[in-house]
Amino acid sequence: MKNSATWIALNDHLGSMKTIHMRDLFAADTMRFEKFSLSHEDMLFDFSKNRITEKTVRLLLDFAHARDLLDYRDAMFAGDAVNITEDRAALHMALRAGPEGRYKIREEEVGSKVTGVLIRVGQFVEAVLSGTKTGTTGKRLTDVVNIGIGGSHLGPKMVTQALAPYCQPGIRVHFVSNVDGFDLAQTLAGLDPETTLFVVASKSFTTQETMTNAHSAHAWLTQALGDDAVTDHFVAISTNRAKVESFGIDPANMFEFWDWVGGRFSLWSAIGLPIALAIGTEGFLNLLKGARQMDEHFRCTPLEKNLPVMMALIGIWNINFLGFDTLAILPYDQRFARLPAFLQQLDMESNGKSVTRNGEPVDTATGPVVFGEPGTNGQHAFYQSLHQGPKISPADFIAIAEPAFELPGHQDQLLANALAHAEALMKGRTFEEAGGNLHRQFSGNRPSNTILLRQLDPYNLGMLIALYEHKIFVQGAIWDINSFDQWGVELGKELAVDILDRLEGNEDCSGLDSSTAGLFTQLESWRG
Ligand code: F6P
Repeated sequence: MKNSATWIALNDHLGSMKTIHMRDLFAADTMRFEKFSLSHEDMLFDFSKNRITEKTVRLLLDFAHARDLLDYRDAMFAGDAVNITEDRAALHMALRAGPEGRYKIREEEVGSKVTGVLIRVGQFVEAVLSGTKTGTTGKRLTDVVNIGIGGSHLGPKMVTQALAPYCQPGIRVHFVSNVDGFDLAQTLAGLDPETTLFVVASKSFTTQETMTNAHSAHAWLTQALGDDAVTDHFVAISTNRAKVESFGIDPANMFEFWDWVGGRFSLWSAIGLPIALAIGTEGFLNLLKGARQMDEHFRCTPLEKNLPVMMALIGIWNINFLGFDTLAILPYDQRFARLPAFLQQLDMESNGKSVTRNGEPVDTATGPVVFGEPGTNGQHAFYQSLHQGPKISPADFIAIAEPAFELPGHQDQLLANALAHAEALMKGRTFEEAGGNLHRQFSGNRPSNTILLRQLDPYNLGMLIALYEHKIFVQGAIWDINSFDQWGVELGKELAVDILDRLEGNEDCSGLDSSTAGLFTQLESWRG
């Protein structure tokens, strides 16, 4: 990639950009915001606070064209096996395509399958929320415990929390993910088996943490209500019918999805059941609708007006040319408490790759290290480093115009802080302005994007998540990596099996490296 003409052009351009400060770019051009911001419905994407000029954008667009972005985008939407290492399509857009969706995989339309499951999800949610479906003793189900991890946890958890003001009365949705027994025990404390519904969510239905938690939940329930209660208190969401059955869940209580849905892209599938239980089916459908809107925008809009494309290209400029290989996610809204964690998986599991689609080593940096916290909390934790640390981390500020709760003065403060920190990162404070005090000087010139939403409702949230999904896809396409596999999680899993055998079997640590052996021995001795 580095030998390509469009890369070389960008690299040459970098030379002239190195000495430019954004505060001078803003001073020289009062139309900078108009030039470098895009809107779509109730979403505004401002990328003017980046070290870019119109020429940078032009060269980045040339680069995207030269990297065959349009072909890759069309291939993904066409249901081609873009996940080449697993020979699978990545067609999460089909899950939210609605009745008009015409997505196909290997010539077969997938719409009727998707609609079939969506109807079953809707009926189930209706039955639980109306009280028609009860627990085994006839009591109304009041608590849902979703057991899943990674993509079978982060999306539903993040969305349910973000849409808390839309939650239905009479039902509480809990999430258990960690195999640390504390997670499950703490969640179950205070719950009544008679009124608790477990949703075991796992694409593979083999994930060790999820299965361990599911078995413990099963024991908790059956000890109280007997084995027959499982039918009324357990449902499964999976692609693996055989494993669901062998766990002891009737396939009639299983909601299916398919291998062409990646775990981290799965909240739109039956994996979204806990979301639908929390906010109702209509809210869930609006979430899908918002994502569909972003799909259409991504698929049909020219690249220079295309939000996910421009967001991706700005990221590429920051990562590959300016060398800023981290990304801070800074949502100024407490409802977005889990958004950084969700986007961390979405981005790092998708684009944390070092090998091209053809199996060659990549010759550039790829996906960033993603971290973040809601503002204003993060300001009092890691922003010191964002503002004055030697390592520059681009940031995405995300703010919502309308508050979740009207408490006098709160929203103004929240929004003022979001705008102020983005401004401070851009402008900085010169040595002179700081009165000659180096400690009080801020270099500024630190890139950030700002995304504004009018309100945080299911529809806008759907658009926002799909925006990031497509941004990540675009970057993966340009880097020529497969954004849809995750082989990097395998080795740790395999070694954990070996160490677990040793811990459970009281075996010794022979053959382990000295560090692992030393830690193993210490743990064994403390555990008696
Ligand atoms: O961490 C690896 C991973 O496979 C993720 O990609 C996935 O979201 C998670 O584990 C959970 O997988 P499953 O849904 O199969 O339990």
